[in-house]
Amino acid sequence: MSLDSFLAELDGLVADAGKAFASAADAAALEAARIEFLGAAKGRLKGVQKGLGAVSKEDKPAAGKRLNEVKAQLEADFEAAKVRLASAGPATKSGSQFDPTLPGKPLRVGRLHPLSQTIDELKDIMGRLGFTVADGPEIEDEWHNFEALNIPAEHPARDPLENFYLSVAGMASGQRKLAGSAAPSDTQPNREADASRSPLLLRSQTSTVQIRVMERQKPPVRITSLGRVYRPDAADATHYPMFHQIEGLLVDRHVTMADLKSVLRMFATSYLGKDVHVRFRPSFFPFTEPSVEADMQWNDRWIEFGGAGMVDPNVLSAVGYDPEAFSGFAFGLGIERLCMRRHGITDIREFYKNDVRFLEQF
Ligand code: DAH
Repeated sequence: MSLDSFLAELDGLVADAGKAFASAADAAALEAARIEFLGAAKGRLKGVQKGLGAVSKEDKPAAGKRLNEVKAQLEADFEAAKVRLASAGPATKSGSQFDPTLPGKPLRVGRLHPLSQTIDELKDIMGRLGFTVADGPEIEDEWHNFEALNIPAEHPARDPLENFYLSVAGMASGQRKLAGSAAPSDTQPNREADASRSPLLLRSQTSTVQIRVMERQKPPVRITSLGRVYRPDAADATHYPMFHQIEGLLVDRHVTMADLKSVLRMFATSYLGKDVHVRFRPSFFPFTEPSVEADMQWNDRWIEFGGAGMVDPNVLSAVGYDPEAFSGFAFGLGIERLCMRRHGITDIREFYKNDVRFLEQF
């Protein structure tokens, strides 16, 4: 065999093998190409190598040198193809290159509304002070929202313009009268009947829950209630027609105003995380006697944070407690106001806009 035809065979081999390795689309195709060209027994390189014996003696060194170069070239092409397939990953057909080492797209994680967070925290604080959480309905009758709380019919707080009365009262009370006559309560028959005739309204204060708890439980009582209340106020920076209150009620023997002040002070100190002083100013609420406005000291300023007082004996009597044997204190604070003070929020409407830029900050 002439040197020229031997070299021509090698050139053809380099060209064919180069194409086959470069176009292998997956590991199986590459392995098939490897066996075809570099296979130890029947590979085409081996086949060409056998022709070396037929090359003349003086041409052998040149032919052998080229053979070694071609072998190295084929192995290099095979290795390059292996690297290409490994880094391209499995989906190379579409040409899209997926890089599993890039960081993923961050998920938008939701969070609790700042008021929900505040409510959870306040429940926690009250729990540590020994108060259990009680709930009441947001649609109330006049007995629980007014009457039992010592707010008589002629009281201005009951003005229809100051409250969200429901137009469905007649129907609802009719249904409840039926329910009441089907299962008459032998302990409080008159009250059930009174309540069933009452118009319904969205509760204007969480003090309603005081009555609901005391009606079904004997003293001592130590509860807190947190929830929505409704008043037809025009929305501005400090008012909203729906807001949240936290109510506290403790009834036992020998409860005094000093207990009230201690609890409020511990409450304020826990929520604000520093030693907060509490101050009482005389006030009036129908359901407490005496009544006070409670202020707390905030960064050297006195801030009003809610109403409080000793439970009025009329309220204790309304739920069947003996006012001679038991006394109690109660308080009601605005939750938005507490949260706004702590976080420096200046407009209550922010809570209800659902603007993610605001909500994301909590
Ligand atoms: N219910 C009152 C209000 O909405 C707040 C309040 C005052 C609650 C005194 C109380 C209390 O329990 O003792 O303005």
